[in-house]
Amino acid sequence: MTTNDVRPVLVAGAINTDLVARVAKAPAAGETVTGSAFAIFGGGKGANQAIATARSGAPTAMLGALGDDDFGRARRADLDAEGIDTGSVARHETEPSGVALIVVEEGTGQNRISYVPGATLTIRPAQARHAVKRIQPAVVLTTLEPVPETIAALIESTHAIGGMVVLNASPEPHGARPFLPDLDILVVNETEAEELLGTEVTPENGREAALSLAKLGPRTVVVTLGPAGAVVAHEAETQSFPAPQVTAVDTTGAGDSFTGAFAAELARGGDPFSAARRGVVAGSLATTKSGAYPSIPHHADIEAMLASLSDEQA
Ligand code: RIB
Repeated sequence: MTTNDVRPVLVAGAINTDLVARVAKAPAAGETVTGSAFAIFGGGKGANQAIATARSGAPTAMLGALGDDDFGRARRADLDAEGIDTGSVARHETEPSGVALIVVEEGTGQNRISYVPGATLTIRPAQARHAVKRIQPAVVLTTLEPVPETIAALIESTHAIGGMVVLNASPEPHGARPFLPDLDILVVNETEAEELLGTEVTPENGREAALSLAKLGPRTVVVTLGPAGAVVAHEAETQSFPAPQVTAVDTTGAGDSFTGAFAAELARGGDPFSAARRGVVAGSLATTKSGAYPSIPHHADIEAMLASLSDEQA
């Protein structure tokens, strides 16, 4: 299949500007720590996933909202430069563009994020319906960043045209509960899976967690497990995908890189297992660079790493 045969993906969610401080150790409550570096990057789970999908070769459109401000103009230019269709990204007159304050620990690359959605919360159900009608996506990928009515409209209108809905139950997974019976695919990390199941989720019990989540409604469940990779439960079959080992510099956007590469492979006609195989590689590669947008890998990088992993195993 050539790139031209990849069907369109519509991605819904936040388009943020990330203000990132690198520190030796994240501050505790009431504590001030001195950082070593500061940078501003494009971010937002929705936009990160749209860029990951586009860099994985799928024709990608974004449903989102930005403020009428400098951050908004810069982020729209970023998406345009990736070849993403921004015709369904609204410019709100009064609400500001979304911003995330991120602290990254130097030793581990782990982050802590506070996020203020701003204009993202203004995306209305009618805009979602209009975007689906206009784009006719084969796959709709949404986070929980839009308001619930908008997510509900996305699911309903996507199914009405025979498309597939992938929900990444992030940032606050409890918001996924009403949608679980209507999902084609649910993607969660360990922490999100724990919150939905009410039990501890580890790499050791990831398969059971995925099967338990599938019982709540989604046809396919993906649980990502950080450096341990991911597990997929699809129609009663489970498979695990270990992640390639890399040195993590910054984990911001790694989960989004997984989900975007995953969605692109579905749009290419792949099944959830082949999609997850590419997702774990994309997620690992994303941790090796700082910032969200700059770290998201391209299709060729993912395929090259997959090929080198198979050579090692041969
Ligand atoms: O998933 C990472 C993203 O979450 C960051 O880019 C930040 O914007 C936050 O919303």
